[in-house]
Amino acid sequence: MKILITGAAGFIGGHLVDRFLAEGGGVTGIDNLSLGTMRHLEKALKNPSFRFIKADLNEIASYRELLVDEVAKAPYDAVWHLAANSDISAGVADPGIDLRDTFLTTFHILQVIRELGIPRLAFASTSAVYGDRATLLEEDSGPMLPISNYGAMKLASEASISAAVESGLQQAWIFRFPNVIGPRATHGALYDFVKKLHSDPAQLPVLGNGTQQKPYLHVSELVEAMTFIVTKAQDPLNYFNIGPEGEGTTVRFIAENAVRLVSSSAEIRYGIGSKGWIGDVPRFNYSIAKLRQLGWSPQLSSDQAVVRALEELVSESSS
Ligand SMILES: NC(=O)c1ccc[n+]([C@@H]2O[C@H](COP(=O)([O-])OP(=O)(O)OC[C@H]3O[C@@H](n4cnc5c(N)ncnc54)[C@H](O)[C@@H]3O)[C@@H](O)[C@H]2O)c1
Repeated sequence: MKILITGAAGFIGGHLVDRFLAEGGGVTGIDNLSLGTMRHLEKALKNPSFRFIKADLNEIASYRELLVDEVAKAPYDAVWHLAANSDISAGVADPGIDLRDTFLTTFHILQVIRELGIPRLAFASTSAVYGDRATLLEEDSGPMLPISNYGAMKLASEASISAAVESGLQQAWIFRFPNVIGPRATHGALYDFVKKLHSDPAQLPVLGNGTQQKPYLHVSELVEAMTFIVTKAQDPLNYFNIGPEGEGTTVRFIAENAVRLVSSSAEIRYGIGSKGWIGDVPRFNYSIAKLRQLGWSPQLSSDQAVVRALEELVSESSS
């Protein structure tokens, strides 16, 4: 297998690169390093089967020839498209960031896929496409009304991929991630709490009143689930929620465990209201029945994943 991974220097991208290289595949990674870091690719860069291209996906002319050269050596079996704007608050302040880095990167990678004749695409989507809904989020439930520009641009990306499958793309997999956590995270509540407690061990300010409750999945299980789905789900267009079982984890649980592990005397200072920030979906309940039916179930509960990821982040931050 030879694959192209966009957003390869990102948190999840780096784990995926390591996974494919460990399986003996050839991997090309593209990233503009706007949010990613070469530290995530330190191991991969020692592997002769890995090639890194620093480029903005929206500037196809800057990397087209490099990919054409690669295809001349051996064609790509698939693109795994993970590049996006993961800085949600930056996207709230300037929706143009989500347009460029979340939607247009998808639009442009589809153009590259067409030009190079790559048959398959796997795409990192999100629970944010569903919007703020009280009901169980099943893949076919609707209406899909995102409340963040990030979610809107991911939904538009899903729509473009669906259309591409009608017009030449052989096969696509859309994964709707929950909150993904684990070692090498560079953003998200767990990372923020650990960072804040290191800089001020006396207090932990929390966005919102701590009652927000969402499913958290460990990155190792996410990678397992994605590779499982790609092997087993063989429709032209496949779309799956990926998440842990159960109702998810409260922000209060995360804050209390971060304090326990980093600075047990710190005072947790909660904000007001159940929303952490504009566009935040404070509570959602994910159905993973479709994934379970395909044959994959997570081993860790959301709470277990949170505790494990906090321990990993604390140990990383002190090494
Ligand atoms: N981490 C989560 O909890 C989570 C949840 C739902 C969905 N996702 C999705 O999973 C994917 C990976 O997320 P992550 O947490 O690893 O984020 P990340 O920010 O660590 O990785 C995204 C990578 O994309 C790169 N990138 C952004 N714009 C680019 C562009 N124009 N050209 C080239 N590279 C560009 C960034 O530099 C970064 O390395 C994203 O698509 C994200 O939306 C993540």
